[in-house]
Amino acid sequence: MANGLMTVSYIAAAILFILSLGGLSRQETARRGNFYGALGMGIAILATVIGAQVTGYGLLIPAILIGAVVGWVLAVRVEMTQMPELVAVLHSFVGLAATLVGYASYLDPNMHLTGAEKTVHEVEIYLGIFIGGITFTGSIIAFGKLRGSISGKPLMLPGRHWINLVGLLAAVYLGSVFLGSEGTSGLMPLIAMTVIAFLFGIHLVMSIGGADMPVVVSMLNSYSGWAAAATGFMLSNDLLIVTGALVGSSGAILSYIMCRAMNRSFISVILGGFGTGGGTSSTAEPQGDVVPISAEDTAQLLSDAKEVIIVPGYGMAVAQAQGVISEITKRLRAKGIKVRFGIHPVAGRLPGHMNVLLAEAKVPYDIVLEMDEINADFPNTDAVLVVGANDIVNPSAQDDPGSPIAGMPVLQVWKAKTVVVFKRSMATGYAGVENPLFYKENTRMLFGDAKKSVDAILAHIPG
Ligand code: TAP
Repeated sequence: MANGLMTVSYIAAAILFILSLGGLSRQETARRGNFYGALGMGIAILATVIGAQVTGYGLLIPAILIGAVVGWVLAVRVEMTQMPELVAVLHSFVGLAATLVGYASYLDPNMHLTGAEKTVHEVEIYLGIFIGGITFTGSIIAFGKLRGSISGKPLMLPGRHWINLVGLLAAVYLGSVFLGSEGTSGLMPLIAMTVIAFLFGIHLVMSIGGADMPVVVSMLNSYSGWAAAATGFMLSNDLLIVTGALVGSSGAILSYIMCRAMNRSFISVILGGFGTGGGTSSTAEPQGDVVPISAEDTAQLLSDAKEVIIVPGYGMAVAQAQGVISEITKRLRAKGIKVRFGIHPVAGRLPGHMNVLLAEAKVPYDIVLEMDEINADFPNTDAVLVVGANDIVNPSAQDDPGSPIAGMPVLQVWKAKTVVVFKRSMATGYAGVENPLFYKENTRMLFGDAKKSVDAILAHIPG
């Protein structure tokens, strides 16, 4: 492929990536944004593969085919609730790729750089491997934590900040040795730094508690972008630099938004130690009596209400209850009842999780409101349905300074006249924190799988 055509393809791909990010920022345009992203990536891969630099087609084509088949099967099979795990694994691939490209680039016998050019190239290699190594192991630990195979409890090693500092200083020292070495004699310090980066990644994510995992996922997203950008520098590939910088900076902005939503400072999340064990298996200590309610009575409550707010959470995604909820909403609105949805920024397991599900179920966008837009309206609301949500409606985030989620803004559902909580048991949510909401006077518990509960409610609301 001629160089000019390659440059034009790269520019087109970069523009498509920017349009994709723009599209993804709003629900109405998200589908188009996704399409632009996929098209841009298709052009980028094609232009690179048929570019003049690439020769090893015997290896490349089978690798692309295997990758495409594995990706296709995974994308078809993965449940929406497993998405964050998949994203974490994909980040680990980017990290591993950056590490391997770094080594290949260092050992490349055709690389004959001298002077400043050599130093710059080696700095790129060193940084690429360092960031890639942290991203690789950090993402694997995040994958384990999101899956529940590694405890969500923060690992609090004695003197953990010192361990991080010593690791960082050692990496800087090894870097100076690496840069001063001739030929490939810098391999030993490079390997030693890689081991430190791997341990650093493990320690960094192990010491972050379950409640802060949303920030970790977006932080690793950002790291994977910077690792890709570093790889772009190593390979002198402009498009990879641009794409990496786009991913790196959008991930950093997302981490900042997440931190703000959870009222945490970015530094305190990175340094770790917040949040208790995650997972839904641990049960809360009883704090009084809970009042159950039947689906039929819930349907009556809804039919008698003037204003209803539905707060969806992770359990709605697990039960796949959004379609029936959309139908209930339609029927209630047809009766003249005002129905709206309240979305917490970290509801579910990935940013925008609830918005995607509600859009898929064709809930009109204009009745889906962000936490800040709806929080003041709960006192004027007759009935709130909390469908499979827990941490995001936990009053102890406001009332109990000792709570692991203290300070996190929550949807103040308890201020409504009646709150109905849909869940299967008294188990805690992701952050493993007890929820006093269940024991409040105006709270009713509708026990059972959320899909079965909404089906039963729908049967009692004539269409
Ligand atoms: P959670 O606090 O995890 O609570 C979900 C509740 O759904 C559980 O208490 C569970 O109770 C119930 N549930 C599960 N399956 C159900 C089913 N089939 N039917 C009915 N109920 C079911 O969810 P949330 O309120 O959405 O809060 C999100 C949490 O995840 C936050 O702590 C957040 O920090 C964390 N997190 C968020 C993200 C992002 S980016 N959104 C990423 C990682 C972690 P039962 O088991 O009793 O049914």
